[in-house]
This record gives sequence, C-alpha cells and structure tokens, in this order.
Amino acid sequence: MSTTQKELETAHELLDFIRKSPTAYQAVANMRDMLDAKGFIYLPEQDAWDVRRGGCYYTTRNASSIVAFKVGADLDHYHYQMSASHTDSPTFKVKMSPELSGPEGYLRLNVEPYGGMIDYTWFDRPLSVAGRVMVREGSGVRSRLLAIDRDLFLIPSLAIHMNREVNDGFAPNRQVDLMPLMSAGELSGGAFMQLLADELGVEADQVLSFDLTLVNRQPGVVWGAREEFVSSPRLDDLQSAFSALRGFDQAHNDHDVSVFACFDNEEVGSGTKQGAKSTFLRDVLVRINAALGKDEQDLLRALAASFMVSFDNAHAVHPNHPEHADEGNRPHLNQGVVIKEHAAQLYCTDAFSSAVMAEVCRRADVPTQVFANRSDKRGGSTLGNLSNQQVSVHGVDIGLPQLAMHSSYETAGVRDTAWGIRALEAFYGADLVIEGAEGVSFDS
Ligand code: CO
Repeated sequence: MSTTQKELETAHELLDFIRKSPTAYQAVANMRDMLDAKGFIYLPEQDAWDVRRGGCYYTTRNASSIVAFKVGADLDHYHYQMSASHTDSPTFKVKMSPELSGPEGYLRLNVEPYGGMIDYTWFDRPLSVAGRVMVREGSGVRSRLLAIDRDLFLIPSLAIHMNREVNDGFAPNRQVDLMPLMSAGELSGGAFMQLLADELGVEADQVLSFDLTLVNRQPGVVWGAREEFVSSPRLDDLQSAFSALRGFDQAHNDHDVSVFACFDNEEVGSGTKQGAKSTFLRDVLVRINAALGKDEQDLLRALAASFMVSFDNAHAVHPNHPEHADEGNRPHLNQGVVIKEHAAQLYCTDAFSSAVMAEVCRRADVPTQVFANRSDKRGGSTLGNLSNQQVSVHGVDIGLPQLAMHSSYETAGVRDTAWGIRALEAFYGADLVIEGAEGVSFDS
C-alpha cells in the first residue's frame, strides 16, 4: 500500500513543527500554543490549582518540560492514561564565556556536547543558536526565548590534503575540531553577546546568562522517488512528541484522566528538576488528585489501574548494516509503531503492557512491529523506566522507526507519523479497566 495524501500532509506538518522547535524551549512554547488554541487552561506550578471534571489543563517546568491533562467528565473508574516523550535532542551547548578569539584573527564559539551526538554530522553545514537568554529588565531578571533564524556559524572540515588519513577513521576532538567559526576578522571579542543583545533589542550588559545550543539549519524534507522518506534534525524525539500530542488532542475519554507529558533532558540522563526522573509528573498527579477532592488512597488505587506509554524513536534496520539489528526483532520504515523490549528492563515493556498496547493498536488498525537489541549489544535507554521511579505504573516503551539516530540530520518513514498519531489517539480513547496484572478490558 502506498502513502496516502493525508499521511504526506501529516509528514509536512511534523516538519513544520520541528522547524519551529529548534530547542526544548521552543518545542514547549509551540505545544503551549497548540493547547491554548484548543482551550486548555494554563496552571502555573506556583499557583493554586482549580481542576474540574471535564476540564483541559497544562503546566510547565523550567519552560522546557510540559504536562497537559484532560479530566474525564464522570471518572467512574478513576485512573490515568499517560504518555511520555522528550523535548530535547543531542547538540552542542555554548559555554558561559562563549568566544575563542584567534588563531589568525578568527573568532570562534566555544561549545561542549549535550547528549550523545554523532560528531561528524555537524561539519560543513550552516548553523545557528537557539534556547533562552536571561535579561536584566527594570528591577528584575526575565527569561527570553531566542531562536535566530539566520545562518551564523559553521564547523569547517580540515582539507583532505592536510589529513590524508581522514577516510581511514576520524575521531574528532571535541575541544579542537568542533568549534564553530563565527568570523574571519570582521568581528572581535564581545560580538556574540552583542549579537544576542541586538536580537533581543536590549543592551549587551543586560544579557546575564543563557542556555543556547547549536541548531542545524538544514530544513527537513520529504524525499525519494516515491516520497517514502522524511529527513530532518531532531526527529528523535520530536516525531514521537508531535504524534503523542496530536493523538492526545484528538482522543476523547470520559472515564480517565488523560495525561500528555514531554520531558527535557532525556539525552543527558533525565536527572534534572524537569527531567523524567524528577518529581514533575508525580507532583502534577498529586495535585490533580487533591483538586478533585480525592485522598491518598484514591491516588494509589488510581495508579494501580493506570498505564504509561513511553514514546521515543526506535531503530529501523539499516540498509548498509542490517547485521547490527536483531535477527527477528528488527523494525522497518513505514511499517508502523514499534514496541520495544529489553530483558534487563532499560525498556519498561513487559508481557502485560506489550499485550495491552498491541491490542489497542490492532483494534485501531495500526500496524505494530517489535524491537529488541542484538543480545551482544547494550542499546539505549529512554523515559519509561525512569519515570517509573517516581510514578510506578504499568508501562510500555514504543517508538517510530528511524535511521541515523543522533545524527544532526535523521531519517524516518513518511507514513509512520500518521501511524503514531492513530496509535496514541486509540490509546487515549481506549476505556482501559486494569485489574492488577491479571487482565484488562477495553470497554467499560
Ligand atoms: Co530519544
């Protein structure tokens, strides 16, 4: 079966969302815009919350993680159906003292790695910076989001004539080889801070600090003779996050509290105040529970009947290196949602949760496939087993299949975003009645 017009449109909408979301801060801002447009009410963490049956709400932490929720109108079997994905991607962070003056009149940025990127994919392409900047304003300090929509920097390769061995295996040194070039002599020290100030319309001495990372400026595309592929920066994990938010928005369920969570800092271990290992999700659930007039016992009962879909991109079998994929548990592009399992539980999937998710997808005509690491490879970890440290519930790890994970330009199947949306819509819409680990019914 070939790609439908609708699937193609969805792929372009995904690319548009990713282009507007160069960092976790802009991703959250864009998600907030989508939720505001749907009538969700923003509940700042520092305020008292008024949460009612039938209402739609969201909150944020650090402006880089977000939790949105819809409260069912009757809640006759009160529980939570949740998803978690992540807002961040591997990149390079600009250091506090941001410039390297010289050698030879050059001006460079001083950057360090954020997450486990493939270093060589950052060479020889136009770059910018984005994130947030703290600015002195009046009697206080304000956070300002910044995404400079211009080609400003580039990390030049060394000519092959100066490194004849480059094709025999090149290990870039991150303090030597990966410093972005900013000027060949026109600009001098202080130019980077001035650039930020000019972009923000403030004086340079008002710029106090920043969380800014490099952004690959290459736009996302749908490509291939049959338009089978979508390539873009940050598909991991904005493809899953976008799909989860769409599915969350489109579903309707009066019997649960539907929760959409998107966390920052997955790529550096999730250990921050806004990461998947933090109290953020648990704090939100505790506050919903209290606002609905329920007690601690009610919350524990609800959690026992709850379910978490941890949604992070998965590895498709590689065309040039199929030997790195497991023999029978290898996903393919455009063939649907991937259920991931790992015996040592870096994924939270077990037989119970895997069966529930596969059945939700089957009932919605969403194809599923399975992923396991080769037994001699460790693989990566993700959100589900970490969020379980604070909110311990049934959970499954799923993802959309992609190639070149953690490249600055990743590739996925053009159809899979639509499958992901449909899977999450079906999950949020399913009227799950969970009885411990004994069984589950899908209609009350
Ligand atoms: Co990821």
